[in-house]
Amino acid sequence: MNISGAKNAAVAILPATILAGGVCVLENVPQINDVTIDLQILRHMGADVRLLDKSTIRIDTKHIKNTAIPYELARHIRASYYFLGVLLSKFNHAKVSMPGGCDLGDRPIDQHIKCFKSLGAEYSIEHGMVEITADKLIGTQIYFDKVTVGATINALLAAVKADGLTILENAAKEPHIVDLANFLNSMGADIMGAGTDVIKIRGAKTFRGTDYTIIPDQIEAGTYMVAAAATKGDVTIKNVIPKHLEPITSKLRKVGAKVIEDDDSVRVIGAQEYERTNIKTMPHPGFPTDMQPQFAALLTLARGTSILTEGIFDNRFRYVDELRRMGADISVDGKVAVIEGVERLTGAPVKAADLRAGAALIIAGLSAQGVTNIEEIQHIERGYEEMEVKLRAIGADIVKRTVAEVGAIAKVV
Ligand code: EPZ
Repeated sequence: MNISGAKNAAVAILPATILAGGVCVLENVPQINDVTIDLQILRHMGADVRLLDKSTIRIDTKHIKNTAIPYELARHIRASYYFLGVLLSKFNHAKVSMPGGCDLGDRPIDQHIKCFKSLGAEYSIEHGMVEITADKLIGTQIYFDKVTVGATINALLAAVKADGLTILENAAKEPHIVDLANFLNSMGADIMGAGTDVIKIRGAKTFRGTDYTIIPDQIEAGTYMVAAAATKGDVTIKNVIPKHLEPITSKLRKVGAKVIEDDDSVRVIGAQEYERTNIKTMPHPGFPTDMQPQFAALLTLARGTSILTEGIFDNRFRYVDELRRMGADISVDGKVAVIEGVERLTGAPVKAADLRAGAALIIAGLSAQGVTNIEEIQHIERGYEEMEVKLRAIGADIVKRTVAEVGAIAKVV
């Protein structure tokens, strides 16, 4: 199976095309709802957006003039707040609805605001809209009180045209931060150190359109690696960067799966039984929080007691109740989940609470005895391109139905 472009890189790079003031051609763009929303926002602002093929998009931002993004568009995705940084950079003004997206507990934007203010911007929050303005953006030193992907990305977007040198310290190091920095540099920015915790940005004056290929999605890849292990399969996953998968590969090997790495693919061979393990999610290169629910689904069938500590978000165990309905033995206390391995899971009607929780339920459903019906799959479609198609292609018995179809099937049965 083939991995698509990285969601969390795409939702940063798409707004960044505004800096080009011309034509960018982006390849390996994932066909997911978050990207669709971003393209709607760009069109709303006056960009000319054309699909050249299913994963290649031509965006001309020459005629963008609108610097306000309405609630009805921005509320669907958290990443809409990246338009704040790029519009501040380009037009010295931005007005965007407070972010929406997955409910993973408290998700403040204080570090984003701190960056904008440090660079010389004024901000206000009124009627659910964040508005930022600046006469001039001036480079400065910014220390993040907390490692934050979103604020690191917004700082890069806001600082690339600021006068002089900006130094970000305690910056996030995720692969999509590096991908955004590479994209910005290909348009004329001058960024050094992305992927480390100190990033230096020298303000650049002219930006031009560029062609760019987005990196593969390491969380999509990790999700299918865990699915292959959980179903005791033998699956080769292509179009990956193995180095981005190291924390996931390491944990899969630890519990007993076999993982064979090649240049741009990994082969996962499942084991008959899995050992318990402990996991604490951390900023990259630690074990990614976006893989925590999926790995929990695997550990429900491992021998012994596993302890999962969620080190990033306050409330990322909303999938646990649904796994319990399938027979999992999990207890949660704050940011810690204790998983007692069971012999088997059984299919059940369940609901996806958020994107990765939904992915975890699919993995559990594929490992369970009997049929699992998952509702609220719109969460899953925000971040996984044609997930049921990709899984069916490697032998999974999975179909997607509309609510009406399910109702009709229920009547027939
Ligand atoms: C990004 O969210 C991703 N989303 C998340 O992926 C991912 O889980 C997260 O980074 C961590 O890797 C996108 O890239 C669109 P953070 P983000 O800012 O930027 C706190 C998925 O499943 N914080 O790194 O919102 C925050 O509350 C999604 O694909 C502040 O306190 O995450 C959290 O506890 C889910 N103040 C921690 O930092 C701030 O100003 C990390 O958040 C910002 C964040």
